[in-house]
This record gives sequence, structure tokens and C-alpha cells, in this order.
Amino acid sequence: MTDSATPTGSAPEGAGPEALRQRALAALLTARERTALLTDSVDDHELTAQHSPLMSPLVWDLAHIGNQEELWLLRAVAGREAMRPEIDGLYDAFEHPRATRPSLPLLAPAEARTYAAEVRGRALDVLDGAALDGGGPLVRSGFAFGMIAQHEQQHDETMLITHQLRSGTAVLTAPVPPAATDTAGLPAEVLVPGGPFTMGTSTEPWALDNERPAHVRDVPGFFIDTTPVTCGAYQAFIEDGGYTERHWWEPGGWEMVREHELTAPLFWHRDAGRWLRRRFGVTEEVPANEPVLHVSWYEADAYARWAGRRLPTEAEWEKAARHDPASGRSRRYPWGDEDPSPELANLGQRHLRPAPAGAYPQGQSPCGARQLMGDVWEWTSSGFLPHPGFSPFPYREYSEVFFGPDHKVLRGGSFAVDPVACRGTFRNWDLPVRRQIFSGFRTARDM
Ligand code: AVJ
Ligand code: FE
Repeated sequence: MTDSATPTGSAPEGAGPEALRQRALAALLTARERTALLTDSVDDHELTAQHSPLMSPLVWDLAHIGNQEELWLLRAVAGREAMRPEIDGLYDAFEHPRATRPSLPLLAPAEARTYAAEVRGRALDVLDGAALDGGGPLVRSGFAFGMIAQHEQQHDETMLITHQLRSGTAVLTAPVPPAATDTAGLPAEVLVPGGPFTMGTSTEPWALDNERPAHVRDVPGFFIDTTPVTCGAYQAFIEDGGYTERHWWEPGGWEMVREHELTAPLFWHRDAGRWLRRRFGVTEEVPANEPVLHVSWYEADAYARWAGRRLPTEAEWEKAARHDPASGRSRRYPWGDEDPSPELANLGQRHLRPAPAGAYPQGQSPCGARQLMGDVWEWTSSGFLPHPGFSPFPYREYSEVFFGPDHKVLRGGSFAVDPVACRGTFRNWDLPVRRQIFSGFRTARDM
């Protein structure tokens, strides 16, 4: 078990080598506990089955987690020989598309578990002896260890998506998230005044390459929704013919709606005039006050147009989340520089759903926007582009090969994101048709 006295989350600037070592250890242990929960909760048949052509079998993610850890912590950091060179190709995400992975000669569940555990045992020895205050950029500040903990947590979120896509009864449970209690007087939108702000980071030790470097952006004033768009608001769009009127949609979105006959977010269906949804094996009424989940970028964009608004740009989102007008500086998180905690944001799979819109008042940003961290990933209008001065590190395939207008940026993390893989600067991306991810959105307008 992890030491609860060790803070979790990204490593802050200025932490000493021993504090970083403890943080890295805690982050690796937390990730492995979650991986175990996600892979021990189904039988071997379900581990090796493909629950959706969009996803790998869970057993692929498990061995891929071990293989990436071996590549970076054992081979790159410690200079060790490959443990099983013949399996590298199987777990290279670029060699085999997800749909083809079930037909590969993958490690069986017991072998995959043993392999990941052996890698981990050796990686903890490497961490023990690593000089985190010096060395090259891979070991300095424990970057590679933080990167690998984030990588495992990212695949844990991917595996949670696979759990959501699987049919059958529920195997995961979690308490309900906190209610929204002081929302009566909340304004629908808040103002972010125009002016420069600092986007990205050059100081956060475990920030990934695409979050770097810090740079100044001038962002004209705009209004942004106080909370993510709710299921109830989204239902009004559906009821008003949202999915039947072409003019709300980008051409690619309209094509998607027609081809797949979309009428609602993924996992929703209508039953005797009510909207129901399937969530981790349970069918339930769609909660009107919860942020809408499982919508594509195209659906978010169409909703915003219907509402007479637009999606925020990525720079607008980050300014709303981080800019502190009192000091002029950008915060690590909306609420300040402290690590996330259960009072501040719905993160880390503590709950299996977003909290109601307006929850987490202590987590709000200086402009008064709530739930920017956690709950649902938020689509922005922006393509995934490098920050000025970007350089790929430590490998081009993490970010650089995805840069361009085809992928849209999502920000803020979902209930399925661990604090170690979530910061005010963290950037996620996906194709505009994707909706199996834990995605929602909020809207904006010009001043
Ligand atoms: C950043 C979430 C888009 O899951 O495809 C995992 C993260 N990169 N292994 C993904 C990632 C390599 C990535 N996303
Ligand atoms: Fe990966």
C-alpha cells in the first residue's frame, strides 16, 4: 500500500531528491494497485477478449505497461539488456493497430502479470539507486519514473474505458461523488478579461514534452461556462432536433451522424419517453444535472453552435483554469499550487462518474469556473499543435507524431485520471469522432 503521508500528484518545482524519490515510489505503487484492480476484476477469458474494435484486450495493456517500464526504467535509465526482446514488437502501439491485437501471440494473463511484476521489482531497485539531483534529463528530478507512472495511469484510464465498453454485469463499484450544494446563485458563465497570460510550463518536473515550454499568450476577453454542459442541457439540444438538422454540424460531424444514425451520446438509449444510460454494467436514468459524458468533438461543436456559442480555444481554457489576475502568474491547478485532494476535484477513479455540475466549490479557478480539473475531459476548439519552442522528449511518438489539425485537444482530465497525470498544463488529444472516452465540454463566447 502507498504511504498516505506521501503527497500524490505531479512533482512540484523545488522538491528535493529524496522527496522526489518518495513521490515516484508512491506514484508507481498507486498505479500498480489500480492496474491490479482493473485486471483482477475480470476472468482470463474477459482479459483476453476484445470488448470493442476500438480497444485492445486488457491483457495487452497489462503487458504493454510492463514493456514500456522495461524500455525506459531498465534499458534507457539503467542500461540493462532486454528481458524478452522477442515481445517488444507485440507491445509497440505503432506496429499493430488496436483492432488486430487479439490475433497476436500475446503473453497469456499469468505470463503478463509475472512479466510486469518482474520489471517492477527491478525498476524499484533502479529508483533506489538513481541520482535524482543530477545526471541526464531522463533521471533528473525523477522524470522517467514520473513519466512511467503517468503512462501506466493513462493505460488504466484506457482499461477503464474498456470496462465501460464490455457487456455483462457490473464488476466495479465506487461511492457516489459529492453533491453540488451552493449552486442556487451560480452564474451560468464567468468573464475572463483580456490580456496576456503564461501558457504551458518550464518548471513542472514531470510535465510531458507537449506541455513545454512556458510562453506568453495574449488572449482577448471572453465568457466561459461556469460548469461543464449538463445532460439536461444536452437533452434540450436533442429534443430540439439537434441530431436531425444539418446546419448545426461540421461536414465531418454530419457524415458521422448519418453513417452511424446517431441520436444521443454513446451509451444512451430512449425507453418509454425517458433517457437511460449504461454505466459500467448498470442501466440507470440519465441524471439531468451531471456533466454530459461520451460525446465526440463533433457533438460538442454542434451543441455549442445550437446554443449560439462556441467551444473555447485551448489557450482560453488554460487561461480560465490557471491565470491569477491578482499575481499575474499561472497556477499549477485552478485552486492554486497545492496537489489535488478529494475536496478539490473528482480524480483518480474514486468515483465511477462525474459529480453534479457545480460541485467542488473549493476547486474553482480565480475567474469562478468550476470542475476544470477532473469529472470530464473537456473538448476545446483547437487542433493539437506544439507550443512555440517545443522539442520532443524523450521520444517523438509520445506527442510529435500526433501534431496537426486532425487531433483535437481535450483538457482538465476526467474522474478516471489520476492526479499524477493531471495538471493545469496537461494536454490530451483525440480524433473528433471519438466518444468512448470520458469526454464532455463547456462552451464560451466572445466578450
Ligand atoms: C495521450 C491519452 C492520447 O493513450 O493514446 C499511452 C497516452 N501514449 N501510451 C494514448 C499514451 C502512449 C495517449 N494519450
Ligand atoms: Fe502506451
